Amino acid sequence: MDIVRRVHSMKETSRQVRAKGRRIGLVPTMGALHEGHLSLIRRMKEMADFVVVSVFVNPSQFGPGEDFEAYPRDLPRDADLCASLAVDVLFAPEEGDLYAEGACTWVEVEGLSSRLEGASRPGHFRGVATIVLKLLNAVQPHVAAFGQKDAQQAILLQRMARDLLLDVEIVVLPIVRGEDGVALSSRNVRLSAEERRAAAAIPRALRAAEAAIETGEREPAKVIEAARAVLEAESLLRVDYVDLVDTETLQPAASMEGERLLSVAVFAGRTRLIDNTVITV
Ligand code: PAF
Repeated sequence: MDIVRRVHSMKETSRQVRAKGRRIGLVPTMGALHEGHLSLIRRMKEMADFVVVSVFVNPSQFGPGEDFEAYPRDLPRDADLCASLAVDVLFAPEEGDLYAEGACTWVEVEGLSSRLEGASRPGHFRGVATIVLKLLNAVQPHVAAFGQKDAQQAILLQRMARDLLLDVEIVVLPIVRGEDGVALSSRNVRLSAEERRAAAAIPRALRAAEAAIETGEREPAKVIEAARAVLEAESLLRVDYVDLVDTETLQPAASMEGERLLSVAVFAGRTRLIDNTVITV
């Protein structure tokens, strides 16, 4: 496996791979890889001939006071994991290459960016969309994989690819959960044992909402309430939001007809956790 640090080297590698008619798959990450990332990499190995994993903790998607500094970083471990899955290139670009001095161009996916996570983290999705476009330009993949855990991110990036006529297929792969049902996240390493135990209420809350629907509940506010009640019963969690939205527009669901995204964000101590489920009645 090669470790590539510079954008110009990555572009040259991709140019050569493409010239041989080979299909490039990209898994963009911020590192601290876990089984969720590994599932994306395994799927890319099936869908592409040449797999690139990018590791870059992107400063522009963190707001003031968020955990940019504290975000877990362990490139040697990430490299070992990628090598064990026969990844072709670990692309770990330098910040100055991705944000050249004076860079002032940003990608804004209007509307979708300001809902859910965007409402709690203003500017977050401008940072995500911009860095993902830069990574796509550097790697030139045919296909790129993202996790359903960041459901809003996935919806927004699919829209960006469509709106900007990008020549890349965006695939979204299922959430990977621990034995306690908690969605895997790089931030989970920062949970204390008690907080981890409390976090298990998050998947339970999603199941409670699904159970309410299975027993005939059709009022969005009551479905939300079923999830919220489980979260609020857990004293170590602080609810940021529980929302039920249309999966295309991310606007609040007025009914349960059509595909719905039930999305939650909570704090366990200082760690912010998100999770979701897609519901079709
Ligand atoms: O999902 C993530 O890890 C990040 O938001 C991404 C897509 C790598 C962009 O920095």
